[in-house]
Amino acid sequence: MKRLIILVSLSLVISSASLLRADEGMWIPLLIEKMNIQQMQENGFKLSAEDIYSVNKASMKDAVMIFGGGCTGELISDKGLLITNHHCGYRRIQQHSTVEHDYLTDGFWAMSLKEELPNPGLTVTFLKWMKDVSEQVSEGVTENMSEKEREDVMEVNIDKLIEKAIEGTHYTAHIEDFYRGNQYYLFVEEKYKDVRLVGAPPSSIGKFGGDTDNWMWPRHTGDFSLFRIYADKDNKPAEYSQDNQAFVPAKSFPISLKGTNPDDFTFIFGYPGSTYEYVPSYHLKMLTQDIYPELISVRDKKLEIMNNDMEENSGVRIQYSAKSASVSNSWKRWIGEIKGLEKLDAINKKQLFEADFQAWSDSDPGRKQKYASLLSDYQKLYEDYTRYRLAKDYISEVFIRTGTELVAFSGRFEELITKVEDNVPENEIQKLADKLDGQVGRFFKDYNEPTDYKLFVALLKMFGDNIGPEFQPSIFINIHSKYHDNYEKYAANIYKKTIFNNPQKLLELLESPGKASIKKISNDPILNIYRSVIDLYTQKVLPEYERLTRDMNKLNRIYMAAQMEFQKDKVFYPDANFTLRLSYGKVKGYVPRDGVFFKHYTTLDGIMEKDNPEIYDYDVPEKLKDLYRTKDYGRFAQDEEMHVCFIATNHTTGGNSGSPVLNAEGHLIGINFDRAWEGVMSDLMFNPDQCRNISLDIRYALFIIDKFAGAGYLLEEMTIVE
Ligand code: ARG
Ligand code: ASP
Repeated sequence: MKRLIILVSLSLVISSASLLRADEGMWIPLLIEKMNIQQMQENGFKLSAEDIYSVNKASMKDAVMIFGGGCTGELISDKGLLITNHHCGYRRIQQHSTVEHDYLTDGFWAMSLKEELPNPGLTVTFLKWMKDVSEQVSEGVTENMSEKEREDVMEVNIDKLIEKAIEGTHYTAHIEDFYRGNQYYLFVEEKYKDVRLVGAPPSSIGKFGGDTDNWMWPRHTGDFSLFRIYADKDNKPAEYSQDNQAFVPAKSFPISLKGTNPDDFTFIFGYPGSTYEYVPSYHLKMLTQDIYPELISVRDKKLEIMNNDMEENSGVRIQYSAKSASVSNSWKRWIGEIKGLEKLDAINKKQLFEADFQAWSDSDPGRKQKYASLLSDYQKLYEDYTRYRLAKDYISEVFIRTGTELVAFSGRFEELITKVEDNVPENEIQKLADKLDGQVGRFFKDYNEPTDYKLFVALLKMFGDNIGPEFQPSIFINIHSKYHDNYEKYAANIYKKTIFNNPQKLLELLESPGKASIKKISNDPILNIYRSVIDLYTQKVLPEYERLTRDMNKLNRIYMAAQMEFQKDKVFYPDANFTLRLSYGKVKGYVPRDGVFFKHYTTLDGIMEKDNPEIYDYDVPEKLKDLYRTKDYGRFAQDEEMHVCFIATNHTTGGNSGSPVLNAEGHLIGINFDRAWEGVMSDLMFNPDQCRNISLDIRYALFIIDKFAGAGYLLEEMTIVE
């Protein structure tokens, strides 16, 4: 039995605070005491590590949750009230919206518990406890095992550990790797399933500035929404029921009205998704030169088509608003990342580091044996890996994500077709048909055929033009030979013949899902596209991609450990992996370019400056203008100004949206929602001069709830520190 972990754990023990920088890093809750608390306190933090994470007493971790599948939220009352971003609740707000009840445009405020809106499928997840299980996970792993063998052994260990961790409880658990496979942690979690919408400002506040201001500072977005967790009568998680009661948490955050000043200590506790800080230069090259440019141009096209149709028709605007926002979000970030990395001269920086690393490893026979070929192995691997990664990303961009939506949608009927053809018992088939029935309704609520048709033509053409024949699904044979690349003609023919664009016919079919009706779809041209894509993907792309990824994982694991050995005195934080992390820093402005300084906060004055009734995203509501005119800010103002957003040096990434931003006393001062343009490359390389996280000032949220929405009753259940 070999212990492969020792090396890394040893270098972690060095926890001299002086080696840490106050801004960069996303730290592990369990290790705050060992690695961070001293430095945090030196920077102003007034509480202890136990106040943040403890299994023995109520701590902040009990008030922080994963909201849905990709955001953070936090509790702000002892009646289960939680706050997250407007953009995190967006999909839910949008689903409740129709042209008659347009909550996106008008906002929504429940004036009592009874008016709160249930959200089937929405969950929030709390961490109960975590544990270092590195040794147990790699039990039985030996040095000469292949990657596959190694994975198999570890998988068995992992399953056992999980089973044991949750035995006799209603908890769930998972194990994640840290430091690129050099350490493993177990997470035991509790998931609540009845989460109701309490309040959301209109988009003209919650999404103010829209995609134009997204990823930008100065910012004026009131990016928050309110939900409430419900539990059964024992305060335990339960499916939605009218009998459920407001959840009583062990901990919720007091809210501070004291405000923010430059250099104030701030920290963020939440769920950063993924970062890649320790990759070799080849990775940056791949992303900025091969992958991002291709995906950006696909999304340019998507956005052009969707945005045109949304501007022309308010029904389409509602249908496609969430889709377009999500397409736009990464699109813009990729552009910013390329710029930011260029400005940092990041590839060159990595190459210089790699040269030093190589010299260091060559200078010792033991190291030479382990690491000498590491970088050249990477170089070789990235060539193939890039080709497969691009194919995979392009397929998902065109056929799976918002794009040729009918194709992915038709795939949901595959299971039904198989079951009918296999003569599965009727009740089982009916159950599936009922489920699909609901999906048809939801899909077509947000579907506009003319928009979809344009996307289909444009995206298929881009695929055909830009992706090599070896990665083209078999439908392209037909498109090239029979249609001579006339994508319009091809699409017209498909859309005429398919029934997947016809909700009526689909619903009829689902009413009596026997062999006769299944025949009507089992050879449908849209479904055939889906099948040709899946065939190509599962046969030609995925197996090779997985093999290359395995090789990549191995190199990453070795390179990570090697870097830690090489830079013995540096304290490493693990890349983000959507587990609970702590970041800390200071409220601080920055210099985005020569001669310009950006202040650390924005105000309502700036909203008025941006006001433009002609543009949906800048159309300030009358009520807000009235409040501005009368300066009716109550106790929420600072020096007679209404602060809206502020920036700080906390290291954050996607997933951190909705995270609590806390002050030295552990009181809530803001809700994290974005990063500033000049620093969005922080997932790949952090620059303390340029990287800023953007937060909503909590006082603006309270002001909107109280003065704008007239839902001040909600403030009564919060603990507000004046
Ligand atoms: N950029 C922020 C984040 O990555 C906010 C996104 C909100 N969506 C949008 N398209 N405006 O999530
Ligand atoms: N807006 C991001 C999120 O939704 C946060 C970020 O990327 O900074 O998590």
